[in-house]
Amino acid sequence: MYSVLIRSFDPRDSSDIMRIDAESFNTTNPTYDLFIYLTYGNDILVADIGGMVVGYIVLSYKEEEAKIMSLAVKREFRRKGIGKILLKEAIKKAKQNSKKRMLLEVRISNTPAQNLYKKFGFEIAGVLESYYFDGESAYLMCLDLNKVDDLS
Ligand SMILES: CC(C)(COP(=O)(O)OP(=O)(O)OC[C@H]1O[C@@H](n2cnc3c(N)ncnc32)[C@H](O)[C@@H]1OP(=O)(O)O)[C@@H](O)C(=O)NCCC(=O)NCCS
Repeated sequence: MYSVLIRSFDPRDSSDIMRIDAESFNTTNPTYDLFIYLTYGNDILVADIGGMVVGYIVLSYKEEEAKIMSLAVKREFRRKGIGKILLKEAIKKAKQNSKKRMLLEVRISNTPAQNLYKKFGFEIAGVLESYYFDGESAYLMCLDLNKVDDLS
């Protein structure tokens, strides 16, 4: 068994994050994605196993809201609870920063991610029609952070 360390992003994590991003999303330009994360991310957490980044989550803050800009886990490390740990720590960060709501957009076909979010109490707050470049719609999901207290 390995131990997973959740820590803040370090610029040396960039290449690992770019690789995870490229295999997780239908992305054409991971460098651009990383640039966006670094520009708009107020909190970037990584899951580190023995010095290798196996997952990350990017949060941006605006007024009372925390938005999940991206979350992904390296393919061979999925279904091991790493997404859950990253999301839990991100929720803690948002609460520490006095945010009231957490928001995200997710492809309507992405049931694995929706299941993960629902486990933490996220609810579907709306549909964003043709939100993605390929025409797929997104669910807007929302979590009321005031209702989250036990994150042990
Ligand atoms: C979504 C993602 C981050 C989940 O990470 P993960 O480390 O595999 O998730 P966990 O092992 O912590 O799983 C937590 C819960 O999510 C749900 N889940 C995860 N993978 C799932 C799958 N393939 N099918 C159905 N439910 C799934 C389950 O409810 C799971 O709980 P359980 O294992 O007790 O059943 C990962 O699948 C991923 O990187 N996907 C590609 C990128 C992506 O879609 N990001 C989200 C964009 S909005």
